[in-house]
Amino acid sequence: MAETQLEIPQPAIIVIFGITGDLAQRKLLPALYHLLKDGLLDERTVIVGISRRDVSADQLLEKVELCVNEIDKVCDPEGIRKIRSALRMHHMSLVNDTEYAELKRQLDAIETEQGVCMNRLYYLSIPPQMFTPIVRGMGQNGLNQSCQHGTAAARLLVEKPFGYDLASARELIRETSEWFPEEQLFRIDHYLAKETVQNILAFRMYNPIFTSVWNNQHITAIDITAFEKIDIEGRATFYEEVGALRDFIQSHLLQLLAVVAMDLPDSLSSADVHAQKLRLLEAIEPVSPDQVRSRTIRGQYEGYRTEVNNPTTTTETYAAIELRIDNERWQNIPVRLRTGKALSEKRTDVAIQFRDNDGDGPGMGNRLVFRIQPSEGISLTLLAKKPGYSGALEPVTMDFDYQYAFDAHGHPDAYARVLVDAARGDHTLFTTSDEVVAAWRVVEHIQQAWSRDGDGLTPYPKGANAMEPGNPTAD
Ligand code: BG6
Repeated sequence: MAETQLEIPQPAIIVIFGITGDLAQRKLLPALYHLLKDGLLDERTVIVGISRRDVSADQLLEKVELCVNEIDKVCDPEGIRKIRSALRMHHMSLVNDTEYAELKRQLDAIETEQGVCMNRLYYLSIPPQMFTPIVRGMGQNGLNQSCQHGTAAARLLVEKPFGYDLASARELIRETSEWFPEEQLFRIDHYLAKETVQNILAFRMYNPIFTSVWNNQHITAIDITAFEKIDIEGRATFYEEVGALRDFIQSHLLQLLAVVAMDLPDSLSSADVHAQKLRLLEAIEPVSPDQVRSRTIRGQYEGYRTEVNNPTTTTETYAAIELRIDNERWQNIPVRLRTGKALSEKRTDVAIQFRDNDGDGPGMGNRLVFRIQPSEGISLTLLAKKPGYSGALEPVTMDFDYQYAFDAHGHPDAYARVLVDAARGDHTLFTTSDEVVAAWRVVEHIQQAWSRDGDGLTPYPKGANAMEPGNPTAD
């Protein structure tokens, strides 16, 4: 198939709140460097980095590893020059209302200087508790509006978690919508922007041999796993507030499940994709209060309490839940989602277990695995006759590996994709307010039960394997 060339998005001012934070330094600035270097953003793009601290653009860029996404991590001097000239720092207090008016004046001045009406992308890379004051400050000072001639878009990009639970998410959505209607909002779940996750939908849409078997007649279980080797890496305040259930399951893993299990949309338009994802999320049966014990596992790695300086904390660093989807396609099929930090391996994958000949499986049936990361690819396990005089069978694997199938330049980093899609106004790989609410509903009773006490919270050593009931460290 012929490759469609990326249409360069309209010129934009990209305003990053929290430019000195972890996400901006590790992900956003390297992604912006890459996009500017490769000419994937308009050359008039201006990045405005908002910070309370008095840091210059040069001081900031010196600290950042800009070229982590490049081949051999080698920097291109021209790319460095481009990002240096695009980045301007703006110091302001986020809680002082009058400073938003000043920010607006600055952005208008940039536009006058560039001589063109520019889209405005506001990226909130800030702790969730700052979200509402910033949105209000922006709205009250006209930062949610187009340029002076009214021909450009103002878009708000927000990082998860969207709220803390169902009630707070609803409230946040209400408050945000006072200033930014849904079409101006880009709720980021960077897992959706991963190339391997986008490919799940492509796989389902364009390989019709799987379409007729994508249901409970042929599939016996869906397992979605996101294990990390890293611990919380010093993000104590953030992690104490969220825990593994909010950090991964409510967001990344339920979104992955939606892509894997939804009915195929009529087209790949944003509206059609979101409509099917929402239908699927709304069909998931929330874990009820009396199912919490039998359908969930939670754990905490040893040393976590000292790290966050809270000897009694019950925040989970490992979470596994089992769900059921109440629709015709998936009735009675167990769906297991699990995630954890400080484990023995980094691995994210989706495993689809097919029924074997004798009925149920998961004995020797076929197994399809989407490897999201690392060693990105897809494998299908088949049964083969073992060479020899008996009829013995052995599972063998057919493997598609991105590294060998496509060129060595790798694929766009998820954050580069997020920025390009927001710049061109494509909502497909973002989550909608309705999806966010539906996902909170699924985990609501688990959150409530887990926040009451530490009942069932199992400690595990750093570097452990997955936790299973009754055998916390065995996979
Ligand atoms: C973030 C979580 O959303 O995703 C982090 O807040 C996690 O806790 C990160 O480490 C993992 O992202 P990736 O792309 O490295 O798998």
